[in-house]
Amino acid sequence: MKLIAIMNVKGGVGKTLTACNMAHILADVYKQRVILIDADPQGNATAFFNRSAQDGGLTELLTGLATCYDEVVQDTEYKHLQLIGCDSSLFDVDLRPDHGCVDPRKVLVDLKDALTEDDACDIVLVDCPPSFTASAISALAAADSVIVPVKMDAFSVDGMEFLLDQIAAVCKINGNADLAGVLVTLWHNTPCNVQGEAELRRRGIKVFETHIRRSDKADESTWFHSPICEYSKYSSTAKDYRDFVAEFVKNGGLKDGRI
Ligand SMILES: Nc1ncnc2c1ncn2[C@@H]1O[C@H](COP(=O)(O)OP(=O)(O)O)[C@@H](O)[C@H]1O
Ligand SMILES: [Mg+2]
Repeated sequence: MKLIAIMNVKGGVGKTLTACNMAHILADVYKQRVILIDADPQGNATAFFNRSAQDGGLTELLTGLATCYDEVVQDTEYKHLQLIGCDSSLFDVDLRPDHGCVDPRKVLVDLKDALTEDDACDIVLVDCPPSFTASAISALAAADSVIVPVKMDAFSVDGMEFLLDQIAAVCKINGNADLAGVLVTLWHNTPCNVQGEAELRRRGIKVFETHIRRSDKADESTWFHSPICEYSKYSSTAKDYRDFVAEFVKNGGLKDGRI
């Protein structure tokens, strides 16, 4: 069983679309039993799969109100794909860190142990918020590997080493996580995108070969609450997400998973 955190401190870089589409492809194509954890109080991943966290989600785990994963895991309409949702109540965890009786650095580690012991799933993906909140720290502390979606602008390219150092520092809480790779998202064929990606590689940063092209279909898919491979199977974004997941699997991303 593996836990993969999808993290960047910037918003709008495709973390949520990557998490939701990767979860769907791993479940649908690779027949992995996937649990997607929404760790962003904006609750985008929860809404994407037409679910709510009203009856419990990550907030309850991080505040000790739920003590076992089966109290908060819910099915989605897709086979093999389950969700631990969240909503704005997750803000409270950071606003009033004293109201929980649990240490966020341990919550998802404990959850992972329980899932492994029960053989309850193969892959956990965590859609992180755009900052090092308690939920992000919880995810990174439990992560086996981290995927960093990034949009090619100068700030992101310049700040990449610093961001990767920050992520590595949090991952050191358990010391096991590696960088699966930086994933260039919202790519389109402009000199800035081409040169930005080349610059990351030139600096020796581990960048996935596949980049995710920008397409209106991706944006539209959020309105229809539908994974891109269902909403627009032949779009460039759907193809790129399939290729990206294939690359992730080929690189050993599921080594301790089912295949
Ligand atoms: N490949 C893409 N092509 C076009 N729009 C995209 C693509 N990926 C993401 N988007 C859009 O960009 C915005 C940010 O994506 P999102 O996944 O919510 O990022 P984050 O979770 O990092 O904030 C959303 O409006 C989303 O629909
Ligand atoms: Mg998001």
